[in-house]
Amino acid sequence: MFKINEDYLKLPGSYLFSNIAKKVAAFQEQNPKKQIIRLGIGDVTQPLAPAIIESLHRSVDEMGHAETFHGYAPDLGYEFLRSVMAKEDYQSRGCEIRADEIFISDGAKCDSGNIQEIFAKNNRIAVCDPVYPVYVDTNVMAGRTGIYDPDSQTWSDVIYMPCTEENGFAPSLPDQVPDIIYLCFPNNPTGATISREALQEWVDYANRNGSVIIYDAAYEAYISEEGVPHTIYECQGARTCAIELRSFSKNAGFTGVRLGATVIPKELKCGDTTLHSLWARRHGTKYNGAPYIVQRAGEAVYSPEGKEQLKKQVAYYMNNASVIETGLREAGYQVSGGVNAPYIWLKTPQGMTSWEFFDFLLEKANVVGTPGSGFGPSGEGYFRLTAFGSYENTVEAIKRIRQA
Ligand code: MLT
Repeated sequence: MFKINEDYLKLPGSYLFSNIAKKVAAFQEQNPKKQIIRLGIGDVTQPLAPAIIESLHRSVDEMGHAETFHGYAPDLGYEFLRSVMAKEDYQSRGCEIRADEIFISDGAKCDSGNIQEIFAKNNRIAVCDPVYPVYVDTNVMAGRTGIYDPDSQTWSDVIYMPCTEENGFAPSLPDQVPDIIYLCFPNNPTGATISREALQEWVDYANRNGSVIIYDAAYEAYISEEGVPHTIYECQGARTCAIELRSFSKNAGFTGVRLGATVIPKELKCGDTTLHSLWARRHGTKYNGAPYIVQRAGEAVYSPEGKEQLKKQVAYYMNNASVIETGLREAGYQVSGGVNAPYIWLKTPQGMTSWEFFDFLLEKANVVGTPGSGFGPSGEGYFRLTAFGSYENTVEAIKRIRQA
């Protein structure tokens, strides 16, 4: 008889956003007339920018002619996309990242879940608490997290770095040294940022201790303040300790198109083995590349027109963030985030858990958000709203929350 991967059985419940989707669907079925506003999952609502659509049309036409047809993509992704990313995302910021250190993929969610495969099972991971659940859940599936304690909602072998009001939602360097450190800035879910100096401390810590940092930069486009790093490679020494994940979902609306990238500098080594070579082996074996047309669409993100159009799109969402932030603050809520990130992190009203507040908002305001406790124990008593709705829905949602 075959055996299953029993580590999957250790996962409590279903994936956070699937769970929410089920609850919302059940509520809608019982209340078919209610107009539900969804500010839960960080999914975009604005259409793809014209420059991207034009590029998609052009490349779709290419696929219809033998001379310009494209089959399997190169292992690491097309050179045209990797080169423009190296130049625009890194070299233009003074960071030494080359095109052949960038691996194109179909999104940062998959990469952030899959990257742990190239590390030994007995590595100790550290995560922020609260945290994007994919980092933890995929390590659970890999059998790396020990035993789950339902009371504290923590895993015995995971180092949790609480991000609380007291520390401004910025994690402290852990006393117990982890092997793998997951960081995401601007942060999902809290919307907090890290200064370049603070990130440099993490890089120094990792280099000193032989740890690797997996740095999720999916929300980089939302940075509006000076002194906030756009990439970890702005820090000295990051090439020997950091992997960076990039996404086209939030900056360019690719949640349904799918495109991302992982950057692994060639100096990042364990003994003589480069992590680059392991990820290249994994990529070549398990993945056949993001579609040509999608990589062409990604290239358009960096064209002058694309950049201009996407700057407006980001500004549109950030205006929503400000509507949420101001509206809730005026209503007496304690709010943070929303300045360099499309997420607003609010404290639930006194005496209400995150899930109680979720139910309350769904029933009374027909607004969906994400319960903070879904992201980890330190998220209890908090709630996340996204700025990715339409402007009209965002205004309406805040009006309803205030009335509720
Ligand atoms: C979120 O809501 O946290 C994100 O949309 C999830 C994701 O990007 O996969």
